[in-house]
Amino acid sequence: MNPALYFESPAEGLAELALTPDVAGVAEPDDETARVHVAIRGVNKTYTTGTVQVEALKNINLTIGRGEIFGIIGRSGAGKSSLIRTLNRLEDVSSGQILVNNIDVGSLRERDLVILRRKVGMIFQHFNLLHSKTVFENLALPMKAAGIRDKAAIKQRIDELLSLVGLEGKAEVYPSRLSGGQKQRVGIARALMLQPKLLLCDEATSALDPETTHSILGLLKDIRDKLGLTIILITHEMSVISEICDRVAVLEQGEVVESGPVWKIFSQPRHEATRALLAPLRKGLPDELLTKLNTEPGPVGTRAVVRLTLAGSGQEELPLHLLGNLGTDTKLLQSDIEYVQGHVMGRLLVSVPANDGHLPDAFRAPAFSNTEVLGYVTPSA
Ligand SMILES: Nc1ncnc2c1ncn2[C@@H]1O[C@H](COP(=O)(O)OP(=O)(O)O)[C@@H](O)[C@H]1O
Ligand SMILES: [Mg+2]
Repeated sequence: MNPALYFESPAEGLAELALTPDVAGVAEPDDETARVHVAIRGVNKTYTTGTVQVEALKNINLTIGRGEIFGIIGRSGAGKSSLIRTLNRLEDVSSGQILVNNIDVGSLRERDLVILRRKVGMIFQHFNLLHSKTVFENLALPMKAAGIRDKAAIKQRIDELLSLVGLEGKAEVYPSRLSGGQKQRVGIARALMLQPKLLLCDEATSALDPETTHSILGLLKDIRDKLGLTIILITHEMSVISEICDRVAVLEQGEVVESGPVWKIFSQPRHEATRALLAPLRKGLPDELLTKLNTEPGPVGTRAVVRLTLAGSGQEELPLHLLGNLGTDTKLLQSDIEYVQGHVMGRLLVSVPANDGHLPDAFRAPAFSNTEVLGYVTPSA
């Protein structure tokens, strides 16, 4: 955590949100309240439709630190969207409290609520861009809605953000001409227009292919580092959590069933829901290995556990001589051969010394159609 992201003075929590100074319940922040960006305290949410009641959130307690990328994962219907929408009061809680910068979101009157929503950026699965408007016009909207009329200032901000998200030169394009990944980059730029310190992401990569997902997650991390944002991200994909989150909470039927640093949840999942969410990542790994697998390289002696895919030509044998280049300290843990649509593919699980997380160059040979680091193990001394 970067200490420079803390409040410097008690008034800053208010100033950051640009709220009127008479908002109730603002205390002088001590170190702990300054470190906490969002606190969710005893939150319940019940939807009532006619005579039917759905308890979407049950006694949720979480604190999210400044500058953190905090993941909330759960299966469909777990309550993720409900939870994230309470943070900027797109949904009211039924009971409990949400504090942003130590300000009780539930106590805000209409005017301050509008301001709060402007200062909390949000991005969505389906991007929510206006298709009849250009990228420039989409990005200008939040500034215009906030009453900013200075055209030069609007243009300058749009130029800055297009450059930040890697879309220079796309200002006059309509969203229909952009790829999914580019649309989400516009979504991110739009969310940042009014310089929020908190960014909420609701399944922001769920409509994207794995490669585009990877590039969008890279961008979010970059933005957090450059702008010192706090990011709260909800997803049903563990690969998203493992790629960028610092901590994660697992939501199941409206309850947080476990939470903690990502490496810990990955290496020691306690709840059945967590194990189910991890399953797609760990298909076929032996249990003895799974219990020892960490997401981060450990101290000296760490070995990377790597899944290699080796493709033959058509139904021909596999070029196993390549394995000789992997070095004498590479150990074979598991192997199998698959025939997919007439092609033979070898899948090998190996471990190799990987201090600092670096793999030997031989692992990047083009004949390995996929090289995937599943985690790290540190052999017990
Ligand atoms: N506006 C609503 N009215 C009634 N029920 C809702 C509403 N929104 C969500 N729900 C219900 O609340 C539960 C949690 O939904 P949601 O927060 O969308 O979960 P997730 O985002 O994890 O898929 C589900 O049972 C869903 O059907
Ligand atoms: Mg949802």
